[in-house]
Amino acid sequence: MEPIIKVENLTKIYKGGVRAVDSISFEINEGEVYGLLGPNGAGKTTTINMLTTRLSPTSGNAMISGHDIIRHSLDIRKMIGVVPQDLTADEDLSGMENLLMVASFYDIPRSIAIERSKRLLEMVDLLEASMRQVRQYSGGMRKRLELIIGLINEPRVLFLDEPTLGLDVQTRTTMWDYIKDLRKNYGMTIILTSHYLEEIDALADRVSIVDHGKILITGTPTELKASLKGDIISFGFRSASDSQAVLEYPKGLDVISSADGMVKVRVENADESLPELMSFLFQRGIKLHTLSVQKPSLDEVFLQYTGRSLREEGPADRMKVMMNMRRVRRT
Ligand SMILES: Nc1ncnc2c1ncn2[C@@H]1O[C@H](COP(=O)(O)OP(=O)(O)OP(=O)(O)O)[C@@H](O)[C@H]1O
Ligand SMILES: [Mg+2]
Repeated sequence: MEPIIKVENLTKIYKGGVRAVDSISFEINEGEVYGLLGPNGAGKTTTINMLTTRLSPTSGNAMISGHDIIRHSLDIRKMIGVVPQDLTADEDLSGMENLLMVASFYDIPRSIAIERSKRLLEMVDLLEASMRQVRQYSGGMRKRLELIIGLINEPRVLFLDEPTLGLDVQTRTTMWDYIKDLRKNYGMTIILTSHYLEEIDALADRVSIVDHGKILITGTPTELKASLKGDIISFGFRSASDSQAVLEYPKGLDVISSADGMVKVRVENADESLPELMSFLFQRGIKLHTLSVQKPSLDEVFLQYTGRSLREEGPADRMKVMMNMRRVRRT
């Protein structure tokens, strides 16, 4: 199957010389949810803006469904939906009016636009609030509205730039459900960017970790986690002598630590090793007090490939992003 999106050596150097996107290449298959994960300034928004034809590349190119982003920008705009990082809805209009306004940009006949808007508003539970000014919406309501504005032209490909930035955990999971439904019910191809590892883990089929304008690694979240060496099993024993037993495991173990009746070992795949380990202990009449298995998280993958933790961006950075969003709204 031909990929629906093909990106080749896409590069953006802003005036002043900032190399925001540095010759990235990747392919996305139809119906895939593809994540770009990276810290502030990694080049995610710049990449999205070039793919959605809002920004012209310095060099390189990309094709979306056979259309070239440089030469066929109009064709592309018709078939894609975009939910930008900055809030774009007009605060003085109602949710419904915003949808109808955007629908008119796409020349969607009014009766169809009304019908479609109602369906979308209902989907994100905004039908009741649809006649109220957007100014009065909560942050979560705003983001839900932004999402459906991006869906008004029934796009085949949807770009979501930080769809849940600044939302509380509960609203975020609701947004995730909407995004999962879009994929399930319409087979939509979705490209999303995120700071949140959990988000990428929950939604994306494949992910590229980006930093300083470059893709550091691409894979399924499971593959990326598997590229880290193994799972950690922690055994808790009632006595130090019992804990000795596990160290005598004939196949040998990669022991991380052993103290106070607690033994931590690293294995390639706990799902496979654990049953055998358990029966080994059982045969020796040793009872376990506690047992836990820790699978590597995307957090650790990120750390491995960027040399720093995503969490190191403190609340101050998050705040900066939010302030930026406000500033953009006011101008
Ligand atoms: N209009 C611009 N002019 C000059 N430099 C820019 C411009 N927009 C972005 N940059 C710079 O390009 C780099 C990439 O920015 P970009 O917004 O693409 O990153 P991002 O990964 O989306 O970050 P965030 O997570 O904060 O949204 C940064 O160094 C940024 O300062
Ligand atoms: Mg961004």
